Amino acid sequence: MRRRLIPVNVVIAALLFILLSLDPDQTKPPKAVMDRGKVIYDKECLSCHQADGLGVQGMNPPLAKTKWVLGPKKQMIHIVLKGFSDPIEINGESFENPMPPHHHLNDQEISDVLTYVRNSFGNNAKPITPAEVKKVRAAIAKGK
Ligand code: HEC
Repeated sequence: MRRRLIPVNVVIAALLFILLSLDPDQTKPPKAVMDRGKVIYDKECLSCHQADGLGVQGMNPPLAKTKWVLGPKKQMIHIVLKGFSDPIEINGESFENPMPPHHHLNDQEISDVLTYVRNSFGNNAKPITPAEVKKVRAAIAKGK
C-alpha cells in the first residue's frame, strides 16, 4: 500500500508559518521610526493632545481611534501641515478650537510622528512615508 501521510516536518513548517502570519506585531512599524516619532510627538503635539493621546475635554480632541487618525493618510497629513479649524465631533463631544499648522517639520519628521500616532494610543494603521508627505505638501503649495 502507498503511504499518503504528509511528513511531520512539513506539518510543523506549515503550522509555524500560520502562527507567524497571525503575529499581531508583524504590522508594527520599525522601533527606530516609533522612537523618532515619539520624540517629535512629545515636542510638537503632547501639550495639546496629551501624553495618553486623549486630548483635553472641550479643547483638544483625542487621537485614539478617530476617523482622522485611522482614515485616509492624505487627510491626516493635510491637518498637520495646514492646521485644522473645522468644527468636529468625536464620541459625542464637539471641538472647534483651531489647531495651528506644523509645516516647519520636514517630510521625514511628519511621516515619523504620524506613523507613531497611527500606532499608539490603541491605534493600528499603516505607516505614512516621507514621499506621501512630500506629495501633500506640493499639492498645498499649488493651492489645493
Ligand atoms: C495648540 C494645540 C495643538 C497642537 C500643538 C496640535 N494639535 Fe492637533 N488638534 C488640536 C485641535 C484644537 C484640534 C481640533 C481642530 C478642529 O476642531 O478643527 C486638533 C485636531 C487634530 C487631528 C484631527 C482630529 C482628531 O482628533 O483625530 C489630528 C489627527 C491632530 N490634531 C494631530 C496632531 C498632531 C500629530 C500634532 C503634532 C504634530 C498636533 N495635532 C498638534 C490642537 C493641537
